[in-house]
Amino acid sequence: MIGASARTLSGMTCLAGVIGWPIAHSRSPKLHGYWLQKYGIDGAYVPLAVRPNDVGQAIAALPKLGFAGINVTVPHKQAVFALVDELDEVARRVGAVNTLVVRSDGGLRATNTDGYGFLKNLKEGAPKWCAADGPAVVLGAGGTARAVVVALLDVGAPSVRLVNRTLPRAVALAQELGGSIEPVAWQERADALDGAGLLVNTTTLGMEGHPPLDLDLSRLSRCAVVNDIVYVPLDTGLIKAARARGNVAVDGIGMLLHQARPGFWAWFGRDPDVDDDLREYVLADLGG
Ligand SMILES: NC(=O)c1ccc[n+]([C@@H]2O[C@H](COP(=O)([O-])OP(=O)(O)OC[C@H]3O[C@@H](n4cnc5c(N)ncnc54)[C@H](OP(=O)(O)O)[C@@H]3O)[C@@H](O)[C@H]2O)c1
Repeated sequence: MIGASARTLSGMTCLAGVIGWPIAHSRSPKLHGYWLQKYGIDGAYVPLAVRPNDVGQAIAALPKLGFAGINVTVPHKQAVFALVDELDEVARRVGAVNTLVVRSDGGLRATNTDGYGFLKNLKEGAPKWCAADGPAVVLGAGGTARAVVVALLDVGAPSVRLVNRTLPRAVALAQELGGSIEPVAWQERADALDGAGLLVNTTTLGMEGHPPLDLDLSRLSRCAVVNDIVYVPLDTGLIKAARARGNVAVDGIGMLLHQARPGFWAWFGRDPDVDDDLREYVLADLGG
């Protein structure tokens, strides 16, 4: 296993990092550091603690400081959306960005890779799942749900039942994204499972330090796939309950790992592997 170790940077070191506030919790430096070391790349990936008021100046300084690009995390994903020179189609539709690349002319190109990571993880954990098999139920209408819903519609889900505690938020998201999205009240969540091919939890429920997800799965087909994007703990109550009744259940750690790949590739020139060693390395850090 590759571990963190002191090393000397050269004058040619390729620079990337992650901006957020706070940033100390971010697993991205460890993840990218693992890949840099594994592939022997002369690169560095640094945590950048940037206050919300300073985001504009920080972003503008990236080309001048020689950064190849950065990841963007909470709470800056929407603010940075409005500050870049070029947005790809996915970022535009999701309305938030998590990956910036500094172009050769110094301009900033941005994308959102959360949906990519979500789908890669889902297909890896449930290879037989096919979006066209049935409606998808998405619990939550927060920041990450936006990327998940866009990804599901793009890959051919016939419809998305968007269940949220604050119903107007689901209604607003459905209107904004367009397509076949049906907002569902939180009290109706168990009924919404009827006939679904996929259930995804994008709420914070079930996460360490948050209340458990209270959801009766009896209406869910045993052929449906269940995915929890919460990864602390890895085996959430939802994952355990789904496995116990025979559903294929996919945990959230692979989404975290896969969403990082496009940035690493763009900055450091290599599409990195997501394998068991990496999974174990990151899980050890999470105490999993
Ligand atoms: N695996 C990965 O790579 C990955 C990536 C990103 C995020 N995540 C995880 O996904 C989760 C959501 O992140 P986010 O950034 O999207 O959060 P967010 O924007 O704050 O959204 C939180 C969602 O949870 C709902 N919620 C919170 N408390 C609730 C409660 N008591 N009852 C019912 N619903 C409740 C909120 O509903 P309201 O609208 O009613 O407030 C909202 O829909 C987190 O656990 C995060 O760690 C995982």
